[in-house]
Parts: sequence; structure tokens; C-alpha cells
Amino acid sequence: MPTIALRGAVDIPQLGFGVFQVPPDDTIEVVLRALQAGYRHIDTAAAYGNEAQVGQAIRASGLSREDVFVTTKCFNDDHGYQQARNAFKDSLERLELNHVDLYLIHWPVPAHDRYVETWRAFIELRDEGLVRAIGVSNFQPAHLRRIIEETGETPAVNQVELHPYHQQPGLRREHEEREIVTEAWSPLAQGGVLEDPVLTTLAREHGKTAAQIVLRWHLQLGNVVFPKSVTPQRIEENIDVLDFHLSAREMEQIADLDRGERIGPDPDTFVRP
Ligand SMILES: NC(=O)c1ccc[n+]([C@@H]2O[C@H](COP(=O)([O-])OP(=O)(O)OC[C@H]3O[C@@H](n4cnc5c(N)ncnc54)[C@H](OP(=O)(O)O)[C@@H]3O)[C@@H](O)[C@H]2O)c1
Repeated sequence: MPTIALRGAVDIPQLGFGVFQVPPDDTIEVVLRALQAGYRHIDTAAAYGNEAQVGQAIRASGLSREDVFVTTKCFNDDHGYQQARNAFKDSLERLELNHVDLYLIHWPVPAHDRYVETWRAFIELRDEGLVRAIGVSNFQPAHLRRIIEETGETPAVNQVELHPYHQQPGLRREHEEREIVTEAWSPLAQGGVLEDPVLTTLAREHGKTAAQIVLRWHLQLGNVVFPKSVTPQRIEENIDVLDFHLSAREMEQIADLDRGERIGPDPDTFVRP
């Protein structure tokens, strides 16, 4: 599995496993299955309600802690310096881990205007050795600029909605200029792109599925991805994307599918579900 060095230091496996909407009662079994299939990077969040089960699955797998990259996130009601520190401590306790590999501000919540204070707490958590790398999620260019200007600290990643129907070219350019790694959430648009004729044709030509074509496209763009599935055959299918290559022309064909169409909330206004 290829890795990307975050801020030149911490290696993140480029393809991981997401657990949003995996019910807590199923999470141990599903994450164990993913670890057995070869995934070594799990993307969870306090808001997903399954951190405890993610931690249990990692322990039950018999893998050593260093072999699994764990991301979790601070949710919207936990913004603010002290609240973010408390929220982090709660996540660590639920996960029953000594540290997390990557901690993210889940949404900027501009309406509360506390993401800069939250970011200051994140910098301390990293400096204290409780988190190996810190980043953000759903930040727009203005939010990125503000935390960087006010703290001098650039996030290692920005985790944003990104799939063939919402490709975010401007934001990706901003990330490249600032050396921020792009993490793509809902990389398959929650299944919504998989019937697209361009993708199903490419799938047929490569002897792969449309999901594998989309995941391969993400990897070749340099995105970090973590598709979610509770289906055993799809869990295996989604990691089986390292043995083929999309040509420049095929990458262009997928680039042409962009419609700027979000499936998730608008980061400028989102406060809570
Ligand atoms: N930071 C954020 O705000 C944010 C927001 C959303 C998501 N995320 C992260 O991103 C991860 C992935 O996003 P997501 O879960 O929203 O969507 P996704 O990974 O794009 O799609 C998941 C959906 O696609 C189906 N699926 C998966 N593999 C498939 C395949 N090979 N063929 C056909 N269908 C397939 C799954 O069905 P089954 O499960 O039934 O197999 C599920 O319904 C999340 O789990 C979470 O870690 C972050």
C-alpha cells in the first residue's frame, strides 16, 4: 500500500477504511474484516459513535498499534480551546489508545467562529505527543488561510467531499500550493457515481468494477481515500486497486465528469445534522 508523508514526517497509508454510518454493533466485525483484508488505516470520528468498537477491533486483530493508522475527529459542539482538549481526551478513552495518528477538526462551523482556538488546542496536543499529525476537514480556502495566518501552523490534511461529480479543482490547487494532503470523503459519492456510463465503460475495459476505477482515479490524483462498506465482498474489492493503471486520457475522461455537485452539507453553513 503506498503511503504519503504528512508534513514530511508521518506516513499515512493512501487507502484506508471509513466507518461513518457503520452501526456500533457491527463495527468490531466490519473493522476486523477490513484489517484482515489488508487495510491499515481507519477513519472514524467522535460523531460516528463507534470509536470504542474501532479500538476493540484493532486490539482483537492482533496487529501491533504501530501497524494501524487511526484518524478521529473533534465534532462541532466541541470547538473552543478547553472543549477541544476535553473532547480529545474522551475520544482517546473511548478508543482505549495512548495516541491517535491523525486528529481533525470535523467542520469549521464559521457560525461559532471558534475554529482558530480549536486549532491552537490541536497544536498543543500534537506537541505533547498525543497526536502524531493534525489536520482539518471541510475547510474552505478562507478557513485554511485564517488558521495558518493566525497560528503559523499549516494543517497536514484537509478532508473534504471529493468524487467524480464533485472534484474541487480550486481547493485541490490551494492544497498543493500549501503542501496540504487532500483526503477525499465519500470517494464513491456513497455509490452515486457507480452507474455512470464513462465509469462502467472504463470498468469493462480494465476488467474491474466502477468502484475500483473511481478509487484508482483518486490514488493517481494523489488523494488519500477511505471507502466505507459493510459488505465483505466490497471490502475486499475496494482495496484491490493496486494492480492496474489509468492512462492520462482515462484520467481526463473522469475529470470531465465534474458537476460541482455536493451530496453533503455546505461547509460554510453546516452546524449540526
Ligand atoms: N469528514 C467528513 O465530514 C466526512 C463525511 C462523510 C464521510 N467521511 C468519511 O469518508 C468515508 C467514506 O465516505 P462514505 O461512507 O460517506 O461514502 P463512500 O465510501 O463513498 O460510499 C459508501 C457507500 O457505497 C457503498 N459501496 C462501497 N463500496 C462499494 C462497491 N465496491 N460497490 C458498490 N457500492 C459500494 C456502501 O455500501 P455497503 O456499506 O452497503 O456495502 C455505502 O453505501 C466515511 O466512512 C468517513 O470515514 C467523512
